[in-house]
Amino acid sequence: MNAEPARIEADALARIAAATTVDALRTVGQEVLGKRSELVGLRKQLGGLDEATRKAVGQALHATTQAIQAALVDRESGLEETERGARYETERLDLTEVVDPLPVGHLHIVTQTWQDLEDIFVGMGYGVAEGPEIETDWYNFEALNIPDSHPARSMWDTLWVDVGEPGSMLLRTHTSNVQIHVMQAQTPPIYMVAPGRTYRRDTTDATHLPVFHQIEGLVVDRGITMADLAGTIQAFTQAYFGQDFESRLRPSYFPFTEPSAEFDIRPPGGDWLELGGCGMVHPNVFRHVGIDPEEWTGFAFGFGIDRLAKVRYAVDDLREFVTSDVRFLEQF
Ligand code: FA5
Repeated sequence: MNAEPARIEADALARIAAATTVDALRTVGQEVLGKRSELVGLRKQLGGLDEATRKAVGQALHATTQAIQAALVDRESGLEETERGARYETERLDLTEVVDPLPVGHLHIVTQTWQDLEDIFVGMGYGVAEGPEIETDWYNFEALNIPDSHPARSMWDTLWVDVGEPGSMLLRTHTSNVQIHVMQAQTPPIYMVAPGRTYRRDTTDATHLPVFHQIEGLVVDRGITMADLAGTIQAFTQAYFGQDFESRLRPSYFPFTEPSAEFDIRPPGGDWLELGGCGMVHPNVFRHVGIDPEEWTGFAFGFGIDRLAKVRYAVDDLREFVTSDVRFLEQF
């Protein structure tokens, strides 16, 4: 009995030294110190011993437990370091490495998507427009039939810019501001798309980024109807995603379109994902830019470019687009 603690300790230390991974070490730890260990078994037998033996064996058991615990901690930090080193080695990117010939970089996946979308709409007869990212409240909201204090303002968590009157300048929450700039500068008929960067105080997750991209579409002509909008969206879906993707329009609400709809898409075997909003241009929007709503009608849409890329390339998480991991980016 007196020799038992020393034997258990030697045995445990040998097993600890032999463990080659943190996981294996944790299993050894369970086995040598846990409820069913020899150590605990021995402790349970102490009560049946005479006092002198009990004291001696008890002290030895205590020392053994401490020695085993110390060895576990020590071995764990050593193994962790080795595992970390091995991981760094396999994930290492040598940024100074000179390779001949030098590898040629390429456009970011979101930029490629942006350009592909432009190509599709240019092929359908649309022009491409641009608008400012730092915008006035009037272009981003007011002219789009969203007056100050309108409850619909809460649909967009706005990032305000500290310039001029408080609450007068912002980072555009959507590309719909370009609709207004284009209608001020051009007379109908208008067929335009406007891709660009947009900003919201959204919490980042797999389908949301605070800085993202949209592509706006605007058509103003005589006799444009909701059927033209539905047909355009269907033609776009098939041109961009191919025949096996499904799309649907769901009734929705936007202050600048009436009626309004949301546009969802589903890859084969996948789930519906909301890609954008659309609808018939609201007469109040036409009035703000001096276009006669009795003479002209039109439709508008706004899609998330990052979300389009996510579905098209089966990327799990939008955050992959902004972490600059070369191993991710190289795939596209
Ligand atoms: C709008 O922004 C409207 N301006 C769209 C519109 C235009 C409607 C013209 C009618 C006429 P919404 O807030 O739903 O709507 O955003 C449109 C799309 O942008 C979303 O469907 C989604 O694809 C994308 N989007 C929105 N927020 C984020 C975000 N935080 N990260 C990534 N994509 C986003």
